[in-house]
Amino acid sequence: MKENCNSLNLLEMAAAPEPELLCIFGTGDLGRSLGFRLLQSGYKVVYGSRRPHSCGPLPQGAQVMTHEEAAKSADLIFVCVHREHYEFLTSIDHCLQGKVLVDLSNNLKKDIYPEANAVYLQRLVPKATVVKGLNTLSAWALQNGLLAGKQVYLCGESEEAKQAVARMATKLGLTVLDKGSLSAARELENFPLQLFPDWRLPLSIALGLTAFFFFYLLIRDVIYAYVEKNNDISYRIMVSLTNKVCPIVALIMLSLCYLPGAVAAFFQLYRGTKYRRFPNWLDRWMLCRKQMGIVALGYAFLHAIYTFIIPIRYSVRHKLISAVVDEVQQKNKTTPFDFDNTEAWGTDSFLSLGILGFFLFVLLGLTSLPSVGGSLSWREFSFIQSKLGHLTLFICTAHGYIYGWNKFLSSSTYKWYTPPGYMLCLIVPSVVLVLKLLLLLPCVDRTLTRIRQGWERNKPK
Ligand code: HEM
Repeated sequence: MKENCNSLNLLEMAAAPEPELLCIFGTGDLGRSLGFRLLQSGYKVVYGSRRPHSCGPLPQGAQVMTHEEAAKSADLIFVCVHREHYEFLTSIDHCLQGKVLVDLSNNLKKDIYPEANAVYLQRLVPKATVVKGLNTLSAWALQNGLLAGKQVYLCGESEEAKQAVARMATKLGLTVLDKGSLSAARELENFPLQLFPDWRLPLSIALGLTAFFFFYLLIRDVIYAYVEKNNDISYRIMVSLTNKVCPIVALIMLSLCYLPGAVAAFFQLYRGTKYRRFPNWLDRWMLCRKQMGIVALGYAFLHAIYTFIIPIRYSVRHKLISAVVDEVQQKNKTTPFDFDNTEAWGTDSFLSLGILGFFLFVLLGLTSLPSVGGSLSWREFSFIQSKLGHLTLFICTAHGYIYGWNKFLSSSTYKWYTPPGYMLCLIVPSVVLVLKLLLLLPCVDRTLTRIRQGWERNKPK
């Protein structure tokens, strides 16, 4: 029996290899959080510190030694100290021979030093191999384990060293992108200093449209009533005007998500190939479609909330009660109260389309989240984003058309000869839907599919 136990123990020892030991220089927030995450992922961690006996609380299970001792014990060393303190490494460079140093540092401003931190580090310790990377991870994300699928960048001269770091990063759940040699280090160090780079264009478009439509509607609705009828309805700025601007911007932005796809398809049809690059502006536009859609969803959300508070507004209740009183007085005199069936159909249809459009819009937004989109196959994802996306655009556009169906031909709609906001906002979605219809024509669709499968019209023979 005892023999059996012993052989079982031996088997277990053979099955579970000794965990790899990794070293971290720096016991600040980033160093501690990285150590915590590495320990959780099954690594052993040793910290190198200037004051090993008084360096504050460290993750449970980690060892702490002097820099020299710690460097000797591991092959992979994470440098979690500021560039200003790198010089101490020159005094222990004899222990760094052949070691991989992962430089996680960032700067407070772009390009404040003549050379990138990682290049400087490599110059200080030429005997070691420096890999720049993981610098886009925050201590907070490491501490809370928010790493699954997150993309990190690496660069360095040695493929072997990069592979060692990539193996470790993959084990933490990260997705690694190799950016090439150490000359890319400056680009990597500038990444964390960018403020919402992918959101800049969508937010600028949204703000531009909001400002334009706000002032346009302010002049048309509020200032017009004051100048022409001496009627002060400035209170409408708070809800009515906002509840016009929000859906208008939402609808235009939603259509701007689908316009570049149609433009790109016409480019491919015109050129007869998919192998030529699109112009830069189109590339940029296509890359920010997801952000554009999320901003549009935010505006649609505001529209839905503003719409549901309409019945509790004082001005609306007052108008309703006055209408009822007028109705009763009229009835007492001559005319009976008429129910307009067409009007009822119109309002019910436009409200129903709004709700349906909003539901599909939320569905599109949800599937664009990496955690949801990641669980779908490519076919499912493209079905939702493309087919359902165009359907959403169609339904929301129909909501707008039916809202104004009886006002398009009335001259009183065009105050100071200007069309109302909803008419203007229907232009871009209508263009996108017409372009999409053209692309769906069998002869066009067939050619486009062939081009996308690699066929070229003017292929050299
Ligand atoms: C206007 C309801 C979703 C686009 C309106 C109006 C209502 C309404 C009551 C008239 C507002 C007014 O008279 O001031 C709803 C409901 C929705 C919904 C209940 C879903 C919960 C959407 C969505 C879009 C949209 C998703 C497009 C993205 C529009 C547009 C107008 C409008 C363009 C015309 C704005 C104007 O007066 O100039 N909607 N809607 N709606 N809605 Fe919606």
